Amino acid sequence: MKVTLSILKADVGSVGGHICPSAELMESVRQTVKEEGKGIIIDSFISHTGDDVAILATHKLGINSEKIHKIAWDAFLAGTKTAKAQGLYGAGQDLLKDSFSGNVKGMGPAVAEMEFEERPNEPFLFFAADKTDPGAYSLPLYLSFCDPMHNAGLLLSPKMTKGFKFTIMDVEHSDADKVIELNAPEDIYLIAALLRDGERFVVESIHSRDTGDQAAAISTTRLHNIAGKYTGKDDPVMLIRVQGAFPATGEVLSPFTIAPLVAGFMRGSHNGPLMPVKMNSSISFFDGPPVVCCLAFCVHEGKLTPPADAFDHPYWDWVRGRVSEKAQEIRRQGFFGAAMLPYSELEYGGIVDIMKKLESKFKVRK
Ligand code: 13P
Ligand code: 13P
Ligand code: MG
Ligand code: MG
Repeated sequence: MKVTLSILKADVGSVGGHICPSAELMESVRQTVKEEGKGIIIDSFISHTGDDVAILATHKLGINSEKIHKIAWDAFLAGTKTAKAQGLYGAGQDLLKDSFSGNVKGMGPAVAEMEFEERPNEPFLFFAADKTDPGAYSLPLYLSFCDPMHNAGLLLSPKMTKGFKFTIMDVEHSDADKVIELNAPEDIYLIAALLRDGERFVVESIHSRDTGDQAAAISTTRLHNIAGKYTGKDDPVMLIRVQGAFPATGEVLSPFTIAPLVAGFMRGSHNGPLMPVKMNSSISFFDGPPVVCCLAFCVHEGKLTPPADAFDHPYWDWVRGRVSEKAQEIRRQGFFGAAMLPYSELEYGGIVDIMKKLESKFKVRK
């Protein structure tokens, strides 16, 4: 059977700052998906990562389905209504347009979708990250699809020796999608040259070169490109199919041990280490650190198993301890240098006003 997996994610309000949604907000989203999804959505799972609510839905309508996107939009509107009624912070934060226009892409919510013929066994991973942007997934994706140091299957599985095709988007180009296709292993230096810059180039999808099947779909939304000002970070979601012609689950998880420094953290303006966390985790230190959650599912005829919480394991407790130390190290230098994002990333914020004011006070020596 051909199935579509859709993740639609938005921050529509949170308790006590940018921390987490309320139980009532989550329930409004869940109810709307249940009611409007009747006869359309086969199965769904709703969770939050920090202040972002993600709807994972299975259906037969393909990617970019107006019906599915409308259900998600309505669910986020219902969540916003509850958020307003409870006085939650940032009610409707990620709903940047007043009315639905056929597809939530470009309207604020983050979207990652994949349509494929179900394998007899179909394990996949759902990722959601908060206080960061889509570039946060670039290093883990590079390592688990290009590097045998993390993906032993590149050496051990005959189904993976042909490598993977990366589709990478230039997110600076906001008029239309600007993408490039590059092949691992022969293009890995070119892939690395692009992925080095997570604010400009992000992975949109990855395909197996053995079967042609899609392995990964990643949200590429940059909110400031839509809103023209800072409204919140572009907290990204991602789907990865695993096993068989794709990396094993553990090979996808492996690079998350590194907890790379990524853009986000306080006011979306800093660099911080990406901490792997459990399902429905909240946010704390310095509005962070940036967090990522991974839920492992199997799907059969569109029906989802309950998720296995991939980062809920003693190994990741050890990682989290080390990531806290890494967060503290970079926080010790406050606003200085690499701790805060470069001007180009802050240009929609208050720093622009400060720079304008100072410009007139500068004197050029003759
Ligand atoms: P099992 O033998 O437990 O199925 O594991 C195989 C495998 O590929 C692990 O990565
Ligand atoms: P969110 O993008 O998660 O809402 O966070 C915004 C922020 O400013 C945190 O300090
Ligand atoms: Mg928020
Ligand atoms: Mg968020």
